[in-house]
Amino acid sequence: MAKIPYKIYLGEDEIPKQWYNVRADMKTQHRPMLNPATHKPVQLADLEPVFCTELAKQELNETDRYIDIPEEVREHYRMFRPSPLMRAYYLEKALDTPAKIYYKFEGGNTSGSHKLNSSIAQAYYAKAQGLKGVTTETGAGQWGTALAMACQYFGLDCKVYMVKCSYEQKPYRKEVIHTYGADIIPSPSMTTKIGCEINERFPGSTGSLGTAISEAVEYATTHEGYRYVLGSVLNQVLLHQSIIGLEAKAALEKVGEYPDIVIGCAGGGSNLGGIMSPFMGDKLTGKANPHFIAVEPASCPTLTRGKFAYDFCDTGMVTPLAKMYTLGCGFIPSANHAGGLRYHGMSPILSQLYHDGYLDEARAVEQTSVFEAAEMFAKVEGILPAPESSHAIRVAIDEALKCKESGEEKTILFNLTGTGYFDLAAYKAYNEKTMNDYIPTDADLEKGFATIPHIEGIQE
Ligand SMILES: Cc1ncc(COP(=O)(O)O)c(C=O)c1O
Repeated sequence: MAKIPYKIYLGEDEIPKQWYNVRADMKTQHRPMLNPATHKPVQLADLEPVFCTELAKQELNETDRYIDIPEEVREHYRMFRPSPLMRAYYLEKALDTPAKIYYKFEGGNTSGSHKLNSSIAQAYYAKAQGLKGVTTETGAGQWGTALAMACQYFGLDCKVYMVKCSYEQKPYRKEVIHTYGADIIPSPSMTTKIGCEINERFPGSTGSLGTAISEAVEYATTHEGYRYVLGSVLNQVLLHQSIIGLEAKAALEKVGEYPDIVIGCAGGGSNLGGIMSPFMGDKLTGKANPHFIAVEPASCPTLTRGKFAYDFCDTGMVTPLAKMYTLGCGFIPSANHAGGLRYHGMSPILSQLYHDGYLDEARAVEQTSVFEAAEMFAKVEGILPAPESSHAIRVAIDEALKCKESGEEKTILFNLTGTGYFDLAAYKAYNEKTMNDYIPTDADLEKGFATIPHIEGIQE
């Protein structure tokens, strides 16, 4: 049999024409989002002041298995897709494992991550609706960069609230975002009511994704012609990210492979939701039974130690309530270097799949062991991985080492969501051995859980 190549490419004409909506195959739908004022399930009319109409429709769509990707979005996808599926031969050799390790490399575009898959779609729908601009939050900066790029493609104004600790840790990230023409504001800021309140209550706050979301939503809903867009968590984002899994599945089919294990890091859940979606579809419809693993930081253990409850998606409690695994909307994680994984909640789709046992496993890993994996990967595979992505690498290595012990030839697929060229402060801390692992105590978590709303009747 011919040797499987190191890079498996699809042709541009093989870019999927439709996204896959896993909700159409889910046995149990996640509970609906609730309007924060009435506590009733949100309707299209509730979402339209915040989101573009077409995206709000996607958010609520639980029946259409496939949704057409607009031609203009596919045109822009052609600039950086299909992304390669790589066979990690050198990592396999270094680990001396019989496992076959594949990774989908989503970091090969200028924004450096998978986030462009959704930002292009979201900017396209905003433009098609005739809007002036969009607002958003960004943690690590990848989403802000991806959205700034997409807004330039479609001629939209873009305001990015960036979590203050990332803004300070990564001065060059903001220059990139600036260069793409977006405004970038450290959060908590003094440009919104909620930002001013948080600055007053917690002077010197380093911010969180939850706070930045509150600010971005407030700006969008108080300025004519603006809507808010989000880079993760929402159903629409998982839908757009399904392109990762669809391409990975098609590429694996070309070489006669199917994964035994699918691994992704999980912050808000979009890349994992995306890479696993068609394989999850197979599991839900009884065609195959791959093992899915979500990897999160031990410092922000949403799935492994969180509660499955209705909670706000932001710290300022202005967004709808979502039924999800959560550490509490007031939980502020320690300043871990994987900014994109510092989120208190988790996608309602992933949360439901985890609750029902279809997303088989969640693992929390410590950041120094994540950077050990990142270092090894960089040395043998050449790509300097983002700290977020390195969480998936850690577990892929651990699984491959288990295969070494058992002699099993499992096929492992993980998502390499991005590159770490803006994360050199993190690599410096690792190289200089000043990096530490902060794991919240049960008492720390209790403080966060206390911020989960106790609204009569909704938590049953
Ligand atoms: C490179 C990278 N990977 C992963 C994530 C986590 O996001 P999600 O869980 O939505 O895939 C982020 C978020 O910022 C990111 O920048």
